[in-house]
Amino acid sequence: MKIEGRHYRTLWPDADDARVHVIDQTRLPHRFETRALATSADAARAIADMIVRGAPLIGVVGAYGFALAMGEDASDAGVAEAHAKLLATRPTASNLRWALDRQRTLALGTPQAARRAACWAEAGEIAEEDVRFCEAIGAHGARIIAEIAAKNPHRPVDILTHCNAGWLATIDWGTALAPIYKAARAGVALHVWVDETRPRNQGASLTAFELLGENIPHTVIADNAGGHLMQHGRVDMALVGSDRVTATGDVCNKIGTYLKALAAHDNGVPFYAAMPGSTIDWTMRDGVREIPIEQRAAREVTHISGLGADGAIATVQVTPTGSKAENYAFDVTPAKYVTALITERGLCAASADGLRGLYPEQST
Ligand code: MRU
Repeated sequence: MKIEGRHYRTLWPDADDARVHVIDQTRLPHRFETRALATSADAARAIADMIVRGAPLIGVVGAYGFALAMGEDASDAGVAEAHAKLLATRPTASNLRWALDRQRTLALGTPQAARRAACWAEAGEIAEEDVRFCEAIGAHGARIIAEIAAKNPHRPVDILTHCNAGWLATIDWGTALAPIYKAARAGVALHVWVDETRPRNQGASLTAFELLGENIPHTVIADNAGGHLMQHGRVDMALVGSDRVTATGDVCNKIGTYLKALAAHDNGVPFYAAMPGSTIDWTMRDGVREIPIEQRAAREVTHISGLGADGAIATVQVTPTGSKAENYAFDVTPAKYVTALITERGLCAASADGLRGLYPEQST
């Protein structure tokens, strides 16, 4: 997608396949800076420090990190160590484990001398697959937006989204934002309510930045405003991404998503979640009890960063010194509050039957 009219992906390898370059998302929207990842430790740090973030993107960076690790130690012990080290960076998103498992299987089936090259090529293939899948999610989801538009031809479709599930969270297109991009390009009039998404403000910083780059009308709102807007008929649909979906359709996503789903349910607003198949965890059935919820540093709650009047990025403390804070990064929306899941294969009910219908190869 575009930044100031120029097409970017979130990640691109060197011509000689030595390093992979990423956009530093901790600096957006105020600075556009890139980082080169030359070692598996660089990749692990980029994921843990959220230089890259978003479930599909951390899967791909994990895959490149694994390939870099194979250049450091391609033994079977090196394979196990790389898998464990990269998996430990962030615990909630399924995509990271999915990509690392794929790389481990490939590495163990490949002669040691060829492991780095094979895994590097596989990381590229995972990235390309992500682009194809996200674009397909966009096409399927855009039809929902177009249907709502057809019922209200004289006004834009109002869509509420939470966190950043756009191209910055993937390689290109995004998950929840892909249908918005596709619908906008097809000429559907729409407007996006962007939840700021405390504590790290991925909505206010990243989603707003993306929508601005694509010239899509949007308004940033405080996280707590969504329920009020829904009560007053100002939201036609809620559309979010996901970090892990259980085999029964429970949706884990950025903290605060659950409260939006409750408000949507109470107000008859359809609530959709969009994700590629790599986000589905076929081993889990009860999202609230089984999905590991990442807890991050309290400092992300007690402090906030932004652009100072002098043009420098500044971090300030918002809580009194001495107050304790806790920082839960994700929550789980039970399937009963989800109108439908939007995947690369199409839409399905958020249920075991719905998911098995789209992914019959997962039936046991
Ligand atoms: O903590 P983050 O920024 O990695 O969380 C991202 C989200 O919660 C996204 O909504 C999710 O990964 C879906 S991304 C396409």
